[in-house]
Amino acid sequence: MLTRTDRAEPYSLFAPVYNYHMRYVNYVYWSRYLLKLMQKNGIEKGNLLEIAAGTGTLASYLKPHFKSYMISDISKDMLKQSKSGLQKICFDMRKFPLKTRFDIVLSAFDSINYILSPGEIKKVFDNVSAVLPGGGKFLFDTSLERNSHVYSTIFKKPIRIKDFVVKQESRYDSEEKIHTNTFTFEFESGKIIREIHRQRIYTVAEIEEILTASGFTEIKKFDSFSFREGNEESFRIQFIAGK
Ligand SMILES: C[S@@+](CC[C@H](N)C(=O)[O-])C[C@H]1O[C@@H](n2cnc3c(N)ncnc32)[C@H](O)[C@@H]1O
Repeated sequence: MLTRTDRAEPYSLFAPVYNYHMRYVNYVYWSRYLLKLMQKNGIEKGNLLEIAAGTGTLASYLKPHFKSYMISDISKDMLKQSKSGLQKICFDMRKFPLKTRFDIVLSAFDSINYILSPGEIKKVFDNVSAVLPGGGKFLFDTSLERNSHVYSTIFKKPIRIKDFVVKQESRYDSEEKIHTNTFTFEFESGKIIREIHRQRIYTVAEIEEILTASGFTEIKKFDSFSFREGNEESFRIQFIAGK
């Protein structure tokens, strides 16, 4: 049978499957870790903006602990999946439409890695810096090369849902520093649609340099899910950047 392969925007077809795909990610544990990290670092739980918040699962656990909580994402389809009455706004983190100030800006689960060049990362950090007052904090994580080397060849089991099957292929190009996840949606009708998710892998030193250029003066880095200092050998780094 002849099939047609089309491309879809990242997180368009994937959005309704995202929560199921992430069903083994322990967001309760993740939220407790972030709360503990804030407590240990004397961060008051004021007004929070979460960027690249996706379907808002982490937000649903964190929200009760903050004065106010707003989620944002570039994908309307992802935000639509969030059902927990959160305040939502759709925007690209490279172009903030907000003038409001927040005490904390948060980004979780390697979302910063979707920004593909140091110049664009600088735009994101400048945007975050502009909405934070003096004393404000930016908490985010980034996936490091070690994570890409370990997880690049693991193929998740296909997910069957409604009238399609989703298959994932994961590759890391260590020269280009690009990690690509290709999600192939195979419909019963024979139609095949792909979403290609590209993420750039940065070193800790690169991120620190850009944070400093964006005016962040206090930079702390933890081996994710721990309170130990992280380094280039970590799988993922949890940053706290303060102004
Ligand atoms: C791996 S998901 C993480 C979602 C959520 N933080 C979580 O923990 O489940 C990455 C998210 O980043 C969003 N994203 C990618 N590029 C973005 C951009 N330029 N601006 C805002 N969001 C972006 C995607 O739409 C997606 O929802």
